[in-house]
Amino acid sequence: MKDMANVVRKSRMVGEVPPVYPNGWFGLTESFQLKKSETKNIQVLGLQLALFRDEYGEAHAVDAYCPHLGANFAAGGRVVGDCIECPFHGWQFRGSDGKCTKIPYSENIPEIAKVKSYITKEINGWIYLWYHAEEGTEPYWMPPDIEEIQSGQWAYGGRSEHYINAHIEEVPENGADVQHLYNVHTPFMTAGIDLRHMWSTVWSFASHVWSAKWEAQKAPNEHIGVLNLTHKLQIFGKTITPIDLDVQANQIGPGIVYLEFSSFFGRGVYIQSVTPVEPLVQKLVHNVYIDRRLPTILSKFFMVSEAIQVERDIMIWNNKRYLNKPLFVKSAEDSLIGKHRRWYSQFYSEHSPRLKFQKDTIEW
Ligand code: FES
Ligand SMILES: [Fe+2]
Repeated sequence: MKDMANVVRKSRMVGEVPPVYPNGWFGLTESFQLKKSETKNIQVLGLQLALFRDEYGEAHAVDAYCPHLGANFAAGGRVVGDCIECPFHGWQFRGSDGKCTKIPYSENIPEIAKVKSYITKEINGWIYLWYHAEEGTEPYWMPPDIEEIQSGQWAYGGRSEHYINAHIEEVPENGADVQHLYNVHTPFMTAGIDLRHMWSTVWSFASHVWSAKWEAQKAPNEHIGVLNLTHKLQIFGKTITPIDLDVQANQIGPGIVYLEFSSFFGRGVYIQSVTPVEPLVQKLVHNVYIDRRLPTILSKFFMVSEAIQVERDIMIWNNKRYLNKPLFVKSAEDSLIGKHRRWYSQFYSEHSPRLKFQKDTIEW
């Protein structure tokens, strides 16, 4: 699998892509994946992080490498109180600010004994990291609470995880690309995920019908883009009303989407997280939450239908080239994509890392 992926990556024409790591909040891991006193090594956004949950339940992300002699905290490090203890010589560092609090064989702790500590926020079942290419830039917006999750009104109903070979911007851009809804997402979910065959199956009597509009929010919420989507299921050209779905997808910054839906069965939300693990490799995770009075089977159904639709997009993303100057026609559809690109450019800044080409091969 890995060799295959590398061949595809090397032979692929990448195109002139925007900077590879936008500024904003990014999902590191779901809360349930990090137990008390547990440490995880996380590599995202060009960072090597040791993520740990202290004994009081607080999550912290620090540089994985110990400033003493370079051991990796996440490879055998122990959580002590609100600190991480290095496995090599036992130095302890506080999660909240990275300060060294103990050197087992020295009374004197130098002022500069510090590891870089990152800003994190745990909300809606996720541990998010604030990433900004301009050193020292504090968060100027926050991922919002989803009240129904905080209050327990909606219950967790499952997750899906995908790795995508594409620039991160391709994923959110999909939300403003209303025409692709017809070409990629019309065939009924049981027709599968293979774009080559999905139109010609026995399932062609049923189809999804979408209508959508996308809009960027005004200040102070200019980091939010909103996609309004209605979905109908048609069988032999007739709409099956109970399957109607109204969706409001809030794209919150470059890597988080809260996709709230309301259906005949009740309301719920998909939480989407896209985080770059390499310049052109994205980790995409979806969680679904629905009204806790509804049967589990329904959340599984919502999860599977979402995964099928996303996997169709993935076939496009994994094989496409990023076009810096697309050939747009004068139309509402194409102009929305242009609008989305202008909106998304707010997440890049002067020092945002760019893809580096080595010699003339496509490697990074
Ligand atoms: S390398 Fe971490 S304490 Fe020595
Ligand atoms: Fe899509």
